[in-house]
Amino acid sequence: MRVSSILAGEDNPTITLERPIHFLAPDGSDVLVPPGTYTVEKAEAWLRLIPDERHNAFLLEAESSSHEENIEKPLVIFVPGEEGESPDMQMVMLLLPGGQSLTATGSLSGIRDRGLPGRSARLSPGMKPQLKLPTLQSKDSLQINPNIFNVALFHLVGLWHVDPWSLKPHTVNPSNGKWFWSGAYDLYPRLVHLTWLSQNILGEDINKIVAKEGYGMELRLNGNVLKQGPNALSGDFYAGVIENAGAPFNCPQGTKCLFTTILRTPWKKAKPPWIGELTFWKKVKISEAGGKIPPQKLKAVAVIHPNQTTGKSYFKEKIFPIFQHSRCTTCHSLGSKEALVQRHNGILSASGIAETPTALGLNLTCGGGCHQAIANVVPGTTFHETEWKAPHFGMGIDWRNKTAAYICQKVTSSLSTHAALTNHFHEDARIAWAVHSGVLPLNKGTLPVVPPGDFHQFLKIIDPWIFVDYPCPEYQLGLSQMPITVIPPNR
Ligand code: HEC
Repeated sequence: MRVSSILAGEDNPTITLERPIHFLAPDGSDVLVPPGTYTVEKAEAWLRLIPDERHNAFLLEAESSSHEENIEKPLVIFVPGEEGESPDMQMVMLLLPGGQSLTATGSLSGIRDRGLPGRSARLSPGMKPQLKLPTLQSKDSLQINPNIFNVALFHLVGLWHVDPWSLKPHTVNPSNGKWFWSGAYDLYPRLVHLTWLSQNILGEDINKIVAKEGYGMELRLNGNVLKQGPNALSGDFYAGVIENAGAPFNCPQGTKCLFTTILRTPWKKAKPPWIGELTFWKKVKISEAGGKIPPQKLKAVAVIHPNQTTGKSYFKEKIFPIFQHSRCTTCHSLGSKEALVQRHNGILSASGIAETPTALGLNLTCGGGCHQAIANVVPGTTFHETEWKAPHFGMGIDWRNKTAAYICQKVTSSLSTHAALTNHFHEDARIAWAVHSGVLPLNKGTLPVVPPGDFHQFLKIIDPWIFVDYPCPEYQLGLSQMPITVIPPNR
């Protein structure tokens, strides 16, 4: 391909089109731009071609990329198709000072196929990435036929994340060539690791792609460009190189793979199926490319399908029913002296009940001579918190008639750290009593416990939720269901 015209150093760079050209509008429809001279400018993510009359301007879909030309003013390049290669394709590139470039790709015929980049050429979910690969001459240099667009030079070979139950890496295996997400409900892990294998980009080139040395690289998730950070602490993802790594990375023996680790926030935000698009390109200065346009962006696509629980609230489905069980709600609804006296049916008077402030709020506690502390509710397990007491109504934790969203918000704002939550659920004998024992004091019998009736099983339900930073269900009923912040009387 040859560059037909370069017009540098203009505030308003122009191009002249000699033939009518079909482009894509931002909405995916066809735009036929007639022959003429146009001023070219960037309009957000698009290119605007302006004829003499500004109001007749054309807005064109464009691919954003980077360039290394040292320019002070915008530069526009028109690349017509060439006989034998891809005669139909026509490109308008706008290079901006600072390194951004925008390319609108069009055609003379108006026929867009997968050979042309642009929105219509993106692989849609379910479509298999094309795996016909160009042959390479040498192992360490990247020689890509510039006419091949959207070839999946990389493809997904590994997907793993830490399992919140076992706390070990969980390796996903594709079934019938399709990847399915293996996380449960909305318990999204902090990091999602994808391993990509290339059949023809080997050796140092992979390191260079990751380091962005001589290459540009971009990862999109469901269309959004993810910000590459240096590690797990910032950005939307980070990338690296891995060699000969078995599970969980699944980079085959004798090969080198590229991995991308996506942080929870963008992973959670994407609406499944998750569509990962790994794009890279070689950075070439046009001035050094001998009149050739820089190699095209190459893209690999991976589709990860949701499973049956994906996105559903774990708290609502698994934890909320526990809170609603009468073993929890009965004690939590004894929030006044009157309620407690009534419950005790004559064996306790209001004068025997004290009001004791705690870090969380006001409790109704034993004023003396009450039944024994609850300690041995789970044989072999000791607890820090072993007093029989009830939360005052003012704490706002009478769980009856409260939504899952309310309870979750309330609990995670009172117990707002991993340690506070873990401590409460592991070390509170009242909770253990409700889920494991149910034995009433003073030989008053045994009440049914919260299923499955085992404290250790109960913790296996709670702990994974805490591990993944205790996600809450969304409010559905509006402000009236928001928790009311109750200021404890001791503050
Ligand atoms: C014997 C009475 C009793 C039983 C039974 C009981 N709790 Fe509680 N619960 C309390 C008291 C008292 C507090 C307040 C503790 C404090 O102020 O430190 C409390 C506090 C809580 C809190 C902290 C809430 C907040 O926002 O401050 C949670 C969560 C909780 N209980 C959950 C449960 C669950 C779940 C069960 C059933 C499995 C249960 N409780 C059974 C008495 C009980």
